[in-house]
Amino acid sequence: MDLATETATLGSRRPAEMDAPDQGATARPAAPLVARAVLAGIGGYLPRTVVSNDELARTVDTSDAWVRERTGILQRHIAEPHETCAYMATRAAAAALADAGAVAGDVDAIILATATPDQAFPATALRVQAALGCGGFGFDLSAACSGFIYALSVADGMIRARQARGVLVIGSEVYSRIMNWRDRGTCVLFGDGAGAVFLTAGAGRGGGGDRGILSTHLHADGRLGDILYVDGAVGRADRPGHLVMQGKEVFRHAVVRLAAAVDEALAANGMSHSSVDWLVPHQANMRIVDAIAKRLHLPVERVVVTIDRHANTSAASIPLAMMEAHQDGRLRPGQVLLLSALGGGLTWGSALIRL
Ligand SMILES: CC(C)(COP(=O)(O)OP(=O)(O)OC[C@H]1O[C@@H](n2cnc3c(N)ncnc32)[C@H](O)[C@@H]1OP(=O)(O)O)[C@@H](O)C(=O)NCCC(=O)NCCS
Repeated sequence: MDLATETATLGSRRPAEMDAPDQGATARPAAPLVARAVLAGIGGYLPRTVVSNDELARTVDTSDAWVRERTGILQRHIAEPHETCAYMATRAAAAALADAGAVAGDVDAIILATATPDQAFPATALRVQAALGCGGFGFDLSAACSGFIYALSVADGMIRARQARGVLVIGSEVYSRIMNWRDRGTCVLFGDGAGAVFLTAGAGRGGGGDRGILSTHLHADGRLGDILYVDGAVGRADRPGHLVMQGKEVFRHAVVRLAAAVDEALAANGMSHSSVDWLVPHQANMRIVDAIAKRLHLPVERVVVTIDRHANTSAASIPLAMMEAHQDGRLRPGQVLLLSALGGGLTWGSALIRL
């Protein structure tokens, strides 16, 4: 059974045990059932406009060779004016629901990770809610490039706590709007896009063998806030709001902290490197991805890489990579995915998922 077939069943049906009241239930199985967030559908959206390194080199002092060699990036998608965070998120979320065979009525919550929302409020998640015709509740979450992992973790907790049964987790970003297009050290690195997953409450037995989100680990160190930040927001009318980065420092932290994060995820689940079928890392720099893969003794063929075509789409990069691997048939039921990301904050973390 492929992922699409299996998730189609899950997405349109709520497991009976999730509907049963806690007290007074009869015929409980011997091992207590736990609610677990199961990956039911994956979707994404990329703007049509593609900008190559050569095209960028016409307006900023850079070259295709430099960008390729230092980052692995060949091109990026750049949003047109109508392609806002909400616009792209809505399309990614609709695709994730369709992939799950689910409908708007199956959605209890929308958690949208972004640093580039359409408005200060309402939350972009609620623009998506209205566009899709969902009920329930929703909110935005700010954790920069780690936003998708943070949002997955919150969704997993809500599902385990039986606060929600169907949760759309979205990463949607238009970093092209916060770029300083005269800063060659940053403007060549980022792209726009949105990715989404639909999580449904499944019932596991608490053991590591079940499907769903096995663990998430979140970290942050606010003392490192000045090595990667945006120098403005609506609360700072005097500032335009452009991304500023000390690239070498971020690179150094990324390699060290992501290596620790993947080790932590495996240790928490009693797994070894060989248990991982796919590493789906945040796509910031191919050299960082290579370093993490080496740490896991994973050949590059088992790493989902999109940075060459998408560049760094921040909170959208992991779900977009998952979407690609799902659509081209690489993802299969039962496989273990290891997600890892680091971003402004600094924030970093991991998620381990069994499909
Ligand atoms: C940004 C990054 C690619 C820069 O690579 P680097 O090897 O560290 O390069 P440096 O910043 O030391 O710059 C080296 C030289 O290239 C130049 N340079 C920087 N950007 C350039 C560009 N786009 N084109 C051409 N030259 C460039 C610099 O000016 C510098 O020149 P100099 O030696 O004459 O001063 C790298 O540091 C990086 O990827 N960092 C992490 C970024 C990241 O992950 N960010 C997001 C986290 S979510």
